[in-house]
Amino acid sequence: LARPLVDSFGRVHRDLRISLTDKCNLRCAYCMPPEGVPWLSKNNILTTDELVRVAQVAAALGIVEVRLTGGEPLLRQDAVDVVRRMAAIEGSTGKLEVSMTTNGMALPRVAADLADAGLARVNISLDTLSKERFHELTHRDRLDDVLAGIDAALAAGLNPVKINAVAMRDVNDDELVDLVRFAARSGCEMRFIEQMPLDAGHIWSRVAMVRGEEILAQLEQAFELTPLPGRGAAPAERFLVDGGPTTVGVIRSVTKPFCGACDRVRITADGQLRNCLFAREESDLLTVLRSGGSDDDVAALMHRCIAGKLPGHGIDDPGFLQPDRPMSAIGG
Ligand code: GTP
Ligand code: 5AD
Ligand code: SF4
Repeated sequence: LARPLVDSFGRVHRDLRISLTDKCNLRCAYCMPPEGVPWLSKNNILTTDELVRVAQVAAALGIVEVRLTGGEPLLRQDAVDVVRRMAAIEGSTGKLEVSMTTNGMALPRVAADLADAGLARVNISLDTLSKERFHELTHRDRLDDVLAGIDAALAAGLNPVKINAVAMRDVNDDELVDLVRFAARSGCEMRFIEQMPLDAGHIWSRVAMVRGEEILAQLEQAFELTPLPGRGAAPAERFLVDGGPTTVGVIRSVTKPFCGACDRVRITADGQLRNCLFAREESDLLTVLRSGGSDDDVAALMHRCIAGKLPGHGIDDPGFLQPDRPMSAIGG
């Protein structure tokens, strides 16, 4: 059963994205309504031991990188422990690389511990540099905490630190150049993301979405951008800014899908395997884990999940349906 996770289109899966929790301490409008969403049942959230076991089986199947996501992964009390135990797992090409995508607010408190536990790097979400806009967008007045989190990540050596901004029309689309300058000053890579239809309110609209080509056109007014080759399976197209060393990334999931090179599989905080962000079906890993399933049973379920993977997200298909779960419950 230690066969690699290859789907019916020949895509080899090397990247496992694990959501540690669906909860978050921000309420970014594109993700969660101010009142929150019905949380996943506490009893169903994978334990530290279950998470580590799944990562071990996945590593034996060729997973080399684990990305911890949420909700906000650092709301889990055991986050540092999870990192320490996962980073010690031997994959097919050495130790698993463990990284995290976070809103950054807890980093002043835990960045050093995370680095010590073996976390390789972090991506931090930050959509605006304006205190008022941040408050409006996230319903929390916490911009300063996120900025301190970025500093803490850099100080702890969690490099490269990447900053993620979802580009939003009439919200932050006048700030793109400023965000690149801010990231450059801090020594981070700025990345702009096309908004995907994964919001809890199902209010995503293609018209409102800021397209990657608009993002690039704006940046090109201010900077000379040189495309960097060697993207592999990464979502981001990267560019040197004014000859470097600063770089910027654009993630065009909607208008320029990268599904053909996708190497990702996901586990929700409640133990459901998803072969795609937009999967219509999940594989029930939780039940396998809690009904005495063996490592081979876990591996078999992973193989079945990958075998059913579709060629792409299908956002442009006439019958496209947004997943029932919002981004916060899938994991970014
Ligand atoms: P790096 O390995 O650092 O490049 O991370 P990443 O860009 O893969 O991950 P991150 O968590 O920072 O996600 C950035 C954006 O890419 C978010 O909007 C994610 O939802 C999106 N994203 C991540 N993985 C996928 C994917 O498999 N498919 C699509 N369509 N979007 C993805
Ligand atoms: N579309 C694109 N990206 C999103 N993110 C959250 N919701 C969406 C969405 N609907 C981003 C966050 C975070 C990353 C995990 O996903 O900004 O950086
Ligand atoms: Fe992979 Fe699905 Fe993302 Fe496409 S949308 S890159 S298939 S996870």
